[in-house]
Amino acid sequence: MVTDTLKYAPRVGTAIDRFIAQDQINSKHAVGDLSQLLRDIVLASKIINREINKAGLTDIDSSTGVSNPQDEDQKRLDMIAHARFLRAFFKGKKVCALISEEAEDLILTGNNDAKYIVAIDPLDGSSNIDVNVSIGTIFSIYHRKSPIGSEPTVEDFLQKGEDQVAAGYVQYGSSTMLVYTTGRGVYGFTLEPSLGEYFLSHPIIKIPNEGSIYSVNDGYFNKFSPEIQSYIKYCHEQQFKARYIGSLVADFHRNMLKGGIYLYPPTKKHQLGKIRLMYESNALAFIAEQAGGQATDGQQRILQIDPTSIHQRSPLYIGSSKMVDHLTTFW
Ligand code: AHG
Ligand code: MN
Ligand code: MN
Repeated sequence: MVTDTLKYAPRVGTAIDRFIAQDQINSKHAVGDLSQLLRDIVLASKIINREINKAGLTDIDSSTGVSNPQDEDQKRLDMIAHARFLRAFFKGKKVCALISEEAEDLILTGNNDAKYIVAIDPLDGSSNIDVNVSIGTIFSIYHRKSPIGSEPTVEDFLQKGEDQVAAGYVQYGSSTMLVYTTGRGVYGFTLEPSLGEYFLSHPIIKIPNEGSIYSVNDGYFNKFSPEIQSYIKYCHEQQFKARYIGSLVADFHRNMLKGGIYLYPPTKKHQLGKIRLMYESNALAFIAEQAGGQATDGQQRILQIDPTSIHQRSPLYIGSSKMVDHLTTFW
């Protein structure tokens, strides 16, 4: 994982293409492949943003009637977003394989000369599509482990989160933002809809060390462990603000800017929680740490978990550093 800082101070208002180009100068051996891959993600996100904005008009919000590999209702927009990113990675030629929440197996792009692999949650918070509430996209980029030129396998993806080359998310909301890191700080860009371009709006994002927001699905209180129940009672005693959207991206984004903690603990139904390690937790953990926050599964840093399967879940406790530290004293 790269942990340098940028060698220049990008100005608010810098267009994302220019920012990506400047960021590339900081990587000595960069040949431009990562920059191109990031631009491909940027373009796909703009297309998805357009589809989301039409959701109410064109009935793309409703269910497809089938389930994804996690046995969850698949929305039409889940599939549209999945297909858009696939197209970006197939045609962009910088990705040799990807895993997606919406596909059981890894997907080979045929670009075996590409050195990057991607893990993606194309549409996060899809239960919120129908009700016009913020949703997102989450992505992680890694170097492949197998030799360039060969056909990638699942093994390529079984890497720790700390090996991520870059990670980011898009939040489609009252305005659309793309936030990402290449290990040199976290940068947030806001889409200017009339220009169709993202501009740097949030340089070097830092999570407040301390916060007073807690985000958890309180309806599951009785299914949580006694330790988690005690922590939630502590939040009540402190009169922390309860904020839970049910779109991880949006809950994380708010807490990162304002200071807070997001919890998705194990429940009786989901012994490892619900959040997926490879295309939800890892990307946000990388961003959280780069912004000075923390992310743990209760036992270890999220980024140190050694994955054994591509769709595995992990408990997730993420956000302001002191809040995460304090939570772990309840065990
Ligand atoms: P997805 O829509 O990609 O399946 O993710 C939904 C996730 C996450 O975004 C959210 O925080 C969580 O599910 C909400 O789960 P509950 O409804 O169980 O609280
Ligand atoms: Mn998700
Ligand atoms: Mn999803």
